[in-house]
Amino acid sequence: MSGKPPKHSALFTRSFRRSFPLGARGQGVWLWDTEGNRYLDFSGSAAVNFIGHGVREISRAMAGQARRLEFVHSSQFITPQAEEFAAEILDFAGKNFRGGAVYFTSGGSEAVETALKLARQYQVEIGQSSRFRILSRRQSYHGATLGALAISGNNRRREIYLPMVREFEHIAAPYCYRCDYGCKDCGRKYADDLDAALQRAEGEAAAFILEPVSGATLGAVTPPERYLPQVAEICRRHHVLLIADEVMTGFGRTGKNFAVDHWQVAPDILVTGKGIASGYFPLGAVIASERVAQAVAGGSGAFVHGFTYNAHPVAVAAGRAVLKRIRSGKLVAAANSEKGKIGRALKKELHSLRDLPTVGDVRGIGLLWAVEFVMDKKTKQPFSPKINFAGRVAQAAIQRSLLVYPVQGCVDGTAGDHLLIAPPAVITPREIKTAVRILREAISST
Ligand SMILES: Cc1ncc(COP(=O)(O)O)c(C=O)c1O
Repeated sequence: MSGKPPKHSALFTRSFRRSFPLGARGQGVWLWDTEGNRYLDFSGSAAVNFIGHGVREISRAMAGQARRLEFVHSSQFITPQAEEFAAEILDFAGKNFRGGAVYFTSGGSEAVETALKLARQYQVEIGQSSRFRILSRRQSYHGATLGALAISGNNRRREIYLPMVREFEHIAAPYCYRCDYGCKDCGRKYADDLDAALQRAEGEAAAFILEPVSGATLGAVTPPERYLPQVAEICRRHHVLLIADEVMTGFGRTGKNFAVDHWQVAPDILVTGKGIASGYFPLGAVIASERVAQAVAGGSGAFVHGFTYNAHPVAVAAGRAVLKRIRSGKLVAAANSEKGKIGRALKKELHSLRDLPTVGDVRGIGLLWAVEFVMDKKTKQPFSPKINFAGRVAQAAIQRSLLVYPVQGCVDGTAGDHLLIAPPAVITPREIKTAVRILREAISST
């Protein structure tokens, strides 16, 4: 080697300006760093972990699979485990996905890319090759790859890449705390936006994608009651597929198997990630309804798409073991914020933060919540983005050994601060109380 040594770490971290603790081990809702410090994981990393850290049966299943067969390529083999897991997922997704098919990926962004291409191929298969546009919503997040970024509406995460992407129309998303229509028949009005956008697309729209409960960008925003059923009806009327991006909300996070189940909505394609393997291995999945799967199976016969690590055996083993754990632990029911022990406790405790002068809104469902900060509670004026209020609260929390997930931009893509709270479903009511007490201190000290 010659020349000066680099001044930065060899690892491309999230920020070269920050130092990070070195992760060492995890158990339940707790994480430890290499210095022995313990952290309460109140955000499930980034709404990833649902079953708790350090569950032995998952690592055993993964190690067993790796010992028997670490990998086969999907152009040469399928595995019985992948077949069985696909069937288990269709069953978990409910009657609307009976007769469908599952495509496994290595994470959420890959799953979103897969869904976009599947929607396009579906339209080509049924003789609608003029349909290629994917409509989506502002203030959304669908992933980091360029296709996913194009349909996302998270300004901060896409601004510099915009010249590189092909964009289609984005419509507004309901956001009750700052409703454009003063909460008067707003579900219908926001759904009407989609109707108008699909008319403007003049027969070129292939699909509409949305997060049924807005995840990171808006922060755990649930839609008005009639919005999703109306959106589904509008998509059907325009012969456009409805894609529900449930990377953050799927596999129990909202207290139902999938968030769409809260509103009895049947999307044509469900996109999942994160909770499907609870972070034990990189995994995502696209769940296609029978109509979509059949268009390919009974049409050209092959999806023009593929990743080397499609249905990786170790990922599948992790996912199967996680789903088994979700079921045996009745974790989805526990996460429900109306009826479940954990979901109800989290809702109640987080609402107690409303009396703080900087807490403007507390919102969410199941085990996916957000606390939005404002400078003035009456006018709902956000803090200047330069202050990085959410980031500072998160820093104050981590100094007190509590992990939360800070996000900026919920108001207009730049301003607006919130924390995402998404603990594993194995958290106890007592741990929730402790976490909220620490969070209160962190907010008050900022
Ligand atoms: C709704 C949604 N879709 C897609 C993604 C991208 O998933 P990944 O980061 O696993 O690629 C995310 C990640 O946060 C997400 O929240």
